[in-house]
Amino acid sequence: MSHPPIPIRRPRRLRITPAIRNLVRETQLDTHDLIQPLFIVPGKAIRKPISSMPGIFQVSVDQAVLDVRRAMALNLGGVILFGIPATKDEVGSDAWRESGIIQQAIRTLRGEFPDLAILADTCLCEYTNHGHCGPVRHGGIANDETLELLGRTAVAQAQAGADVVAPSGMMDGMVAAIRDALDGEGFSRVSILSYAVKYASAYYGPFRDAAENTPTFGDRRSYQMDPANRREAMIEAQLDMDEGADMIMVKPGLAYMDVLASLRQVVDLPLAIYSVSGEYAMIKAAAERGWIDEKRIVMETLTGFKRAGADIIITYHATQAAEWLMEK
Ligand code: PBG
Ligand code: ZN
Repeated sequence: MSHPPIPIRRPRRLRITPAIRNLVRETQLDTHDLIQPLFIVPGKAIRKPISSMPGIFQVSVDQAVLDVRRAMALNLGGVILFGIPATKDEVGSDAWRESGIIQQAIRTLRGEFPDLAILADTCLCEYTNHGHCGPVRHGGIANDETLELLGRTAVAQAQAGADVVAPSGMMDGMVAAIRDALDGEGFSRVSILSYAVKYASAYYGPFRDAAENTPTFGDRRSYQMDPANRREAMIEAQLDMDEGADMIMVKPGLAYMDVLASLRQVVDLPLAIYSVSGEYAMIKAAAERGWIDEKRIVMETLTGFKRAGADIIITYHATQAAEWLMEK
């Protein structure tokens, strides 16, 4: 009986102690990479739980101030704001009204927190009475008419004090239209984080309760991407870079890490990933049943996003993860 050869290379040597593992770790999570989404509703002292997203609430502006104060103390990278208006209409006009809900939130947060990175989701679906991301014409969503409205919305958000506008409607030409509108109004310093690569995903389910933007008819497959397509992601990202995007986003996260990793090879701009509501809900549901260890699952998942190439991670776990990072 011959013995197997003694290995010369032993990768296990670098895993023996925590100190050695720390020394050779390739990817580090940082609280500054994390962005917390906030859902803003009109009113005062409102903190309404979202049943499919335990730990996440619709908050009035005064409550958002408290959430942001906590986020700032944890050195979070910033917040991304979604507005849920009191009234909706055919075109979503509350999105660009000076007194619109998201403008109120931005103005207050800008006043309270001069150093906060404020990102605004720039889309119309929370503001339209049909829940689509642009006006409905002849049964479809009118692309070019939407561009003008997105331009107005971005300008209103910039006027209120947003640092970054983040168009999420997957309209063709939206980045160029927004850049043009912003620059025309003197907001050349405001950046655009484009949801360039956004798939038509069932993982957005819980968000639609949170943002109250479920389409009243049809779905978003005529504008959001087909989950089966990877090469098309390169085309979408390239178009948005050519149109002047400052940062590029992939969304959802977990099921699209291959897309993120491929994009990283060709995109030198900062890359963001949005780990969406359904991903959060799955982790929460399993953790509540005691089937998984929430903290370890979240840290492993966030580390995975960074390893795959993300610079910025938008996650409903942002504040919680920052707390965990601070305590270690
Ligand atoms: C709206 C928008 C959506 C999300 C962010 N912006 C939903 C959608 O397109 O239906 C999803 C976020 C999430 O699920 O966490 N344009
Ligand atoms: Zn939308």
